[in-house]
Amino acid sequence: MKRSGNTIFITGGSSGIGRALAHRWHDQGNEVIVSGRRRDALEEAVAGRDGMTFYELDVDDPVAVKTVTKGVIADHPGLNVLLNCAGISGAEDPTTARDLSRAEKIVETNLLGPIRVIDALVDHLKDQPDSAILVVSSGTGFVPYPAAATYSASKAAVHSYVVALRALLEGDAQVIEIIPPQVATDLLEGLKESPHSVPLNKFADDVMAHLNEQPEADEIVVEEVEPFRFAERDNKVREIVARMIDGD
Ligand SMILES: NC(=O)c1ccc[n+]([C@@H]2O[C@H](COP(=O)([O-])OP(=O)(O)OC[C@H]3O[C@@H](n4cnc5c(N)ncnc54)[C@H](OP(=O)(O)O)[C@@H]3O)[C@@H](O)[C@H]2O)c1
Repeated sequence: MKRSGNTIFITGGSSGIGRALAHRWHDQGNEVIVSGRRRDALEEAVAGRDGMTFYELDVDDPVAVKTVTKGVIADHPGLNVLLNCAGISGAEDPTTARDLSRAEKIVETNLLGPIRVIDALVDHLKDQPDSAILVVSSGTGFVPYPAAATYSASKAAVHSYVVALRALLEGDAQVIEIIPPQVATDLLEGLKESPHSVPLNKFADDVMAHLNEQPEADEIVVEEVEPFRFAERDNKVREIVARMIDGD
């Protein structure tokens, strides 16, 4: 994707990784539009930033996805980049019968969310020059975190969807998967305090460096997530899963 001069729409731009990338793209000379459910967090995300705008959007609401994206295209006809960053997580114990409502919500937000938003914008995007669709998956899509099995499965599914989409959109739009390691955000309780989390600003700076240095890359794989991304190739999946169960 181009370094500057893009018009970028971000789901999950109200906090964490989405907001950090939004600010960096804005600093680099892009028009940036963020979205999310929390109006106060969106107002904070655009505060003091000329030309940054926001839309309230819950990706779990398929009607809202259609109407809001129509509005975004009408207001910003030059829209050429979509970042799907909205996501939720949750710990669970899949070894015993449980209330599945959170697990079902995770699949809806993390998998159906990007499918819906891409569907709503793909026809517009493929007609734009320099268009790109970015999706935030997770290292746990490559090696599952056992205590968040549904979350990990949702991200593995997102990876699969992105691989298919990239092949089908070749020549029409670039498709980029951003694969974060554990990053210090509010996604899960304890992430901000964990010594295993990569600081948010470091992660966002590293993603921007990768995007700027390899504008044609299919995947953004920062150093900390390499063991997860390449675990299957390196025959390390069982070992890393066992380490996570032991709490290392
Ligand atoms: N932090 C990590 O360790 C890590 C690792 C791998 C992947 N990721 C992925 O990175 C992405 C961003 O997460 P984060 O770590 O930055 O956590 P975060 O700060 O909690 O951000 C999550 C974002 O998603 C939005 N969101 C959640 N549900 C939504 C819905 N139904 N509709 C629209 N927006 C929704 C939230 O906004 P509202 O609450 O305002 O709606 C928020 O902006 C997620 O996809 C996550 O799975 C994170």
